[in-house]
Amino acid sequence: MKLHFAVGQLIQQKADAWILGLYEGVEAKPESNCPAEKAMVTVLTEKDFTGKLYETTVVYPVNANAKKMILVGMGKPADITTEKMRGVAGAGIRTALKLGVASAAMLLRGYDVLCPKMAAQAMVEGAVLAGYNYDGFKSKPKEIKLTDVTLVSYETEAAKAEAGMKKGVAMAAGTNMARTLSAMPANHLTPTDLAEKAVRVAAANGLEVNVLDREDMEEMNMGCLLGVAQGSVEPPKMIVMKHMGNPGGDIFALVGKGITFDSGGISLKPGAGMENMKGDMAGAAAVLGAMEVIGKLKPHANIIAVIAATENMPDGGALKPGDVIKGMTGKSVEIISTDAEGRLVLADAVAYAEKLGAKKIVDSATLTGACARAFGGVYAGYIATCEDLSKELQAAAELTGERYWRMPIHEEYKDMYKSAVADIKNSGGAGGGMQTGGMIIAEFVDKAAYVHLDIAGTSATQTDKPYMSKGFTGMSTRTMAEMALAQAKVD
Ligand code: BES
Ligand code: MN
Ligand code: ZN
Repeated sequence: MKLHFAVGQLIQQKADAWILGLYEGVEAKPESNCPAEKAMVTVLTEKDFTGKLYETTVVYPVNANAKKMILVGMGKPADITTEKMRGVAGAGIRTALKLGVASAAMLLRGYDVLCPKMAAQAMVEGAVLAGYNYDGFKSKPKEIKLTDVTLVSYETEAAKAEAGMKKGVAMAAGTNMARTLSAMPANHLTPTDLAEKAVRVAAANGLEVNVLDREDMEEMNMGCLLGVAQGSVEPPKMIVMKHMGNPGGDIFALVGKGITFDSGGISLKPGAGMENMKGDMAGAAAVLGAMEVIGKLKPHANIIAVIAATENMPDGGALKPGDVIKGMTGKSVEIISTDAEGRLVLADAVAYAEKLGAKKIVDSATLTGACARAFGGVYAGYIATCEDLSKELQAAAELTGERYWRMPIHEEYKDMYKSAVADIKNSGGAGGGMQTGGMIIAEFVDKAAYVHLDIAGTSATQTDKPYMSKGFTGMSTRTMAEMALAQAKVD
């Protein structure tokens, strides 16, 4: 699906379908000569369409530049938000997909309440995210007719709207890339494949990239990442990407958990649902998606990405419960469960990010079942060691509509992962699992401000949402990208 921008009136646009958002209580104008107004007279007077949020209907203009017009309810003007505008655009695009049209023109709405830039960004994001489809390896892929969508803006809002559209396209494309990477089977997306993908994304978007392989990791004593990798025949990769848009300024790091398959290792997971663990690199995918956005928008800020990629498998060389390993900071870890592998690979990733000079670190990881159970997929959980960075996260999430809920951390949780034989254990047990999981990673951060996002439970959705269909969501891509973009203003 390609996005275009046009200035003028919706009715001037030649397209297979127009998409028009309407507030609740919209009234018919029977006297109007406008083909769009005329087409909706009956449906409005009959109250078959009232403008309730996300309600859709199709009407048929006569002798007009489009044969069909998709009406989408926007609810009450007072309740409008950018998140709702994503849903409104998403509902319009879904209807266009169902109708099988090839082109659609969508009028910019909501800019009276929101600003034109935010409204345009939101509508474009909603449209592109709703237009996403993953066919995987089906020999007969689903035929998608809708190829061209034009955002139509009035003259007065045009410059701002176009800027918003550009940002929205980048955000949604990065998110859709993350969704596809998450959905890819582990035999088609190994750590090596993920590293090659990162190299391609970097080359296409003007980012620096460097991939550490096993020998590099050995040299740098990354024993935690190497420990997890030792049970797999696939070599691990530590992927580093950089956008240095403010030479000499502070460095902000995005860190991703890139377990391309999590079998649990020797602490093997139950068979039911294990196939979903191909998505245990959703955090890494989101970081890669966010870096693509950064590469496209080139903020005046220094953003680096560190992705720890490996499989977690149980072979004869695999880590065993009771083993003790040491990562690059020198802190020793007693393995209680080899299934608590995310924190191990992230231990070396956050330490490496800090070694590369990061003053602020945000990681994204499908870290704990505890998070998925606590929030039921409605919120992602997070912990923060710094109030300011926590606020930066919340401000970014406010922009993207992604939901994050802060979990408390406390010294007392440390008792849960004390070890008799090492500095710490890799698991604090079931109680407070989200907090101890994040705090164990934080043990490897020295001075940097740190936020850990647990996207287990939100990296995929079981049901269709207003602009997000069932399947992987790309969760945290847009929020991390917004946080990174905001660094240009913070410094
Ligand atoms: N990748 C899993 C967490 C997960 C579970 C993600 C469900 C998505 C859906 C992680 O590596 C894991 O296995 N965590 C363990 C930690 C425990 C052993 C301390 C868990 O949550 O059970
Ligand atoms: Mn695991
Ligand atoms: Zn895992």
